Amino acid sequence: MTKHSLLSLLMLCFATAGCNQKSPSAVPDNSQVSEGLAAVSPVTVGVAVGIGRFESQASLRYSPEAKALQQTVAREFNQVVAENVMKPQYIHPSENSYFWDDADYLVDFAKQHDMAVHGHTLVWHQALPDWMNTYSGNWDDMLKEHITTIVSHYAADIDSWDVVNEAFLDDGSPRQSIWQTNLPDYIAKAFNYANQADPDAELYYNDYNIAGMSKKLDAVLAMAKSLRQRNIEITGIGFQMHIDRYWPSLDNIREAFQKTVAAGLKVRISELDIRMNVNGTETELSPELAHLQQQRYQDIILLYLNTVPEEYRGGITFWGVSDKNSWVNYYYQHADWPLLFDDKLQRKAAWQGVFNAFTSH
Ligand code: XIL
Repeated sequence: MTKHSLLSLLMLCFATAGCNQKSPSAVPDNSQVSEGLAAVSPVTVGVAVGIGRFESQASLRYSPEAKALQQTVAREFNQVVAENVMKPQYIHPSENSYFWDDADYLVDFAKQHDMAVHGHTLVWHQALPDWMNTYSGNWDDMLKEHITTIVSHYAADIDSWDVVNEAFLDDGSPRQSIWQTNLPDYIAKAFNYANQADPDAELYYNDYNIAGMSKKLDAVLAMAKSLRQRNIEITGIGFQMHIDRYWPSLDNIREAFQKTVAAGLKVRISELDIRMNVNGTETELSPELAHLQQQRYQDIILLYLNTVPEEYRGGITFWGVSDKNSWVNYYYQHADWPLLFDDKLQRKAAWQGVFNAFTSH
């Protein structure tokens, strides 16, 4: 059988769900499918990767498994995002110096493999260099210099940016941060400076919990509306979507996407991962859990494709490659399996869920 006819057979089989119905624990053997997700995705499909030495095993550059990681990333995705090395702490370590080396490495990797790069993130309350935390000069000038330097450096290579990350709390109130304290209009200024530095780049506001917490989303949309009223460019909203097997409901997510589109803003799923061990009681990803995760991934991706019209889709980015290196394990301090590839970089049932959604849409 040729690769192509095998693929068609598999796709037919998954589209009719015949392969999956035998029993919930019959995880499909997706190692047979030769194409990566990028080959079948109707939208830009990205992944966050480590690059720095400090990112050890997750590093596309320095990990002992770097080659295998690179092959997987290049096969499966058509966009990359730096998981850390474009954050202010790493890229702008002292007031008068920038560290481009790791971020440039990612840009070169993307060029070699014909992939896009999404920039993350210009302004955030975390991952700040010490000098910024204690800055006592002119904050407006400093913000302008920071954004202009980074966005100009990558103007030829980066098509879209997270300009501001996580500026609101879950109740919709503005987050207290050095930016809020020292430059209350920093969000508008940041978007303005980014737009001036690269008028062609897509500019996003990015945040978590906004697919499930309507007060927070409303505050974000009100902010975007007020930027536009002031003629300040904003392309869309990044929904991080660090979510779990139960929350948010599909209805909540649909409503959030619809509201955003109705406001004339693009919707980007910017940091997708799905936790399956919310209470920390599971000790392994059982076949049943793997199957539930497959379904959850499939539902979310299909919902995105069915709810967000093509011209409003900013794409889908997964927050990491393999479960082994997911930030979730560190953040929640217990094992979880939130991503599409297992510890050996093999495709999980979750991968199949995404593949099914892309191919059945
Ligand atoms: C996380 C990285 O994945 C970790 O490696 C790092 O230690 C902390 O930051 N929201 C964001 C991302 O916007 O930048 C965060 O990334 C995850 C939550």
